[in-house]
Amino acid sequence: MRILVIGGGGREHAIVLALSRDPAVTALACAPGNAGTAALAEPYAVDVSDPQQIVQLAKEWRADLVVFGPEVPLVAGAADAVRAAGIASFGPSGQAARIEGSKAFAKEVMQAAGVPTAQSLVVDNPAKLDTALAEFGPTWVVKDDGLAAGKGVLVTSDFDAARAHALKLLDGGHPVLLESFLDGPEASLFCLVDGTTVVPLLPAQDFKRVGDGDAGPNTGGMGAYAPLPWAPDDLVDTVVRTIVQPTVDELARRGTPFSGLLYTGLALTSQGPQVIEFNCRFGDPETQAVLALLKTPLAGLLNAVATGSLAEQPPLEWADEAAVTVVVAAEGYPGRTRVDEVISGADLPGVLHSGTRRREDGAVVSAGGRVLSVVATGPDLEAARNAVYERVGQVHLPGSHYRTDIALRAARGEIAVPTA
Ligand code: AMP
Ligand code: GLY
Repeated sequence: MRILVIGGGGREHAIVLALSRDPAVTALACAPGNAGTAALAEPYAVDVSDPQQIVQLAKEWRADLVVFGPEVPLVAGAADAVRAAGIASFGPSGQAARIEGSKAFAKEVMQAAGVPTAQSLVVDNPAKLDTALAEFGPTWVVKDDGLAAGKGVLVTSDFDAARAHALKLLDGGHPVLLESFLDGPEASLFCLVDGTTVVPLLPAQDFKRVGDGDAGPNTGGMGAYAPLPWAPDDLVDTVVRTIVQPTVDELARRGTPFSGLLYTGLALTSQGPQVIEFNCRFGDPETQAVLALLKTPLAGLLNAVATGSLAEQPPLEWADEAAVTVVVAAEGYPGRTRVDEVISGADLPGVLHSGTRRREDGAVVSAGGRVLSVVATGPDLEAARNAVYERVGQVHLPGSHYRTDIALRAARGEIAVPTA
């Protein structure tokens, strides 16, 4: 099978690495990729927001399967365009991708499907803002109703800050989504979905804030671990039964079935798991941890999703271990970041590349905010943490920063789901 992976982050490096180990894969390409994927998959330049460029590359390269990493091409309808060209595609249609692309659409689907989630209200007129804010908070949750890569969200108990954030979004022409605040630890559950059948992967936890102890602004994700030793044994079954399957059934009922990876971001509240958000693709950096534990060959699974035969797959096999990934970010991230710094240690085992490129002189240099995702496994979280931080200590990027507390509270047994 010739597989073309679209994207160029740590998630795509993890996907490419897993595919490269699958004997069913005869050729791999990753576009645009990064310096890490280029060691395993042929690199091609592509504008991921342009479906026609992706289709042209898939045809010219004679791909049997196109695997989409990021949401941008999916929301733009690139998976539809690839399928229309007669090539199998791992990733939802543009219509189904609205589950991520429009938070208002996701809320509407959840309401129709009876899926537990925060109360919400869309405000598109500044004149209605103050009344609306009075109905929510404290604590206020103010979101941009559109793609914002986790960065358009403000969670605050400060009324003035909530109001200012909402006004800034409205000024920029973005409708604002207000939500009730969900308490409890967060979890990410990835499910393979072929339109009807749902196959969950291991649950993971992501660290969205930039600093230790969840200080500072939200980011795309600074680290992750899997599985969740503190989670109730029935967590995955409960989430599939009460959230994922009803959502998948509702999308199918509307004539826009979801095929690809449905990411459920959850708050595990005293009232049970509730949805914070859906994404229409693998999460970054959770994928780096989750795929490090998957023993089932990945290509066959992704192909089964793309061809609607997930129900015929044998149960997934997992390593009985824990995995931790730590993101090494560029100076200034998640604000203005410095790029083109030379990285050393980028080729060490367990070092996945997020924003990197190879310079003409052969040096690997930074090319984005999140630069590396270092990953390690171990018999338990503490061992995996020790291993991953030892590896982080072996990479060097001037001015970079990373969180030192990824999976720490979980390893210490300090996380608990609140009880009613
Ligand atoms: P989102 O972009 O919707 O995933 O939001 C980013 C982050 O904001 C989430 O990972 C949560 O930490 C936080 N968040 C979003 N919505 C809520 C909510 N309703 N209640 C509590 N925290 C939230
Ligand atoms: N890790 C969060 C995301 O991929 O959206």
